[in-house]
Amino acid sequence: MTRLAGKTALITGSARGIGLTFAEAYVREGAKVAIADIDLDRAQKAASDIGDAAIAVKMDVTDQASIDTAVRSVEDAFGGIDILINNAALFTAAPIVEIERADYEKVFSVNFAGTLFTLQAVAKSMIARGKGGKIINMASQAGRRGEALVAVYCATKAAVISLTQSAGLDLIRHGINVNAIAPGVVDGEHWDGVDAFFAKYENKAPGQKKKEVGAAVPYGRMGTAEDLTGMAILLASPDSDYVVAQTYNVDGGNWMS
Ligand SMILES: NC(=O)c1ccc[n+]([C@@H]2O[C@H](COP(=O)([O-])OP(=O)(O)OC[C@H]3O[C@@H](n4cnc5c(N)ncnc54)[C@H](O)[C@@H]3O)[C@@H](O)[C@H]2O)c1
Repeated sequence: MTRLAGKTALITGSARGIGLTFAEAYVREGAKVAIADIDLDRAQKAASDIGDAAIAVKMDVTDQASIDTAVRSVEDAFGGIDILINNAALFTAAPIVEIERADYEKVFSVNFAGTLFTLQAVAKSMIARGKGGKIINMASQAGRRGEALVAVYCATKAAVISLTQSAGLDLIRHGINVNAIAPGVVDGEHWDGVDAFFAKYENKAPGQKKKEVGAAVPYGRMGTAEDLTGMAILLASPDSDYVVAQTYNVDGGNWMS
């Protein structure tokens, strides 16, 4: 199918994981995609594996100059940006009494400020072009409720859900839909890192936390990045034109709201 034919997308943090799977899915749907990541080598490999429809862009979402340069280079390459996915994020975990200010600042600066100021830069570009657009923020079930050991990451994702509401309400007058996806537990390198945190803090064997969270999902297993592509395509396509400021749970039934 080509539900995104002729569209262009900038996806942050898409050199690997969910963002890369979204990039591949968008290209299958007819879009051109910019793989924007702090890890340029991996972004270049990902773009060359995808082929002519993808370009790699160096982008650090914590650095305003890097955001502005990346947005301009995608505009130059594609003639404009129709779709943004704010996907780049870091995970962190620690008991409340062990949270370090530097770690808090780093994770908020990627997960929240990175989302806000990339959204702002791309919204400016979309408004100037006058064709509207679609912005998708990656939230998480972690943003739906707090979790012992995960205070900072959960707070960043709650903030992303709130930003999605405010930006969605502000930008729809420009024809820009802002919505979010809240995944549950998605297998991949990110969750390998999460598993390692729980192995440390809950004294579990490596891999044990993954098994536990997978078994607890009503659907019966952890998610895959592919499980999320249907929602990512829907929220980028004209089928979602009347959907504004929402966050959709795509989590196998873990959370209801
Ligand atoms: N994997 C899960 O279980 C899960 C669950 C809920 C939500 N999410 C969210 O989905 C999104 C993708 O998750 P994932 O599992 O693919 O993560 P991942 O860790 O595999 O990939 C994150 C990517 O972001 C890039 N990145 C990190 N810092 C950056 C920066 N400053 N600027 C630009 N790029 C940067 C990394 O290089 C990496 O390519 C994230 O927002 C994550 O919070 C993931």
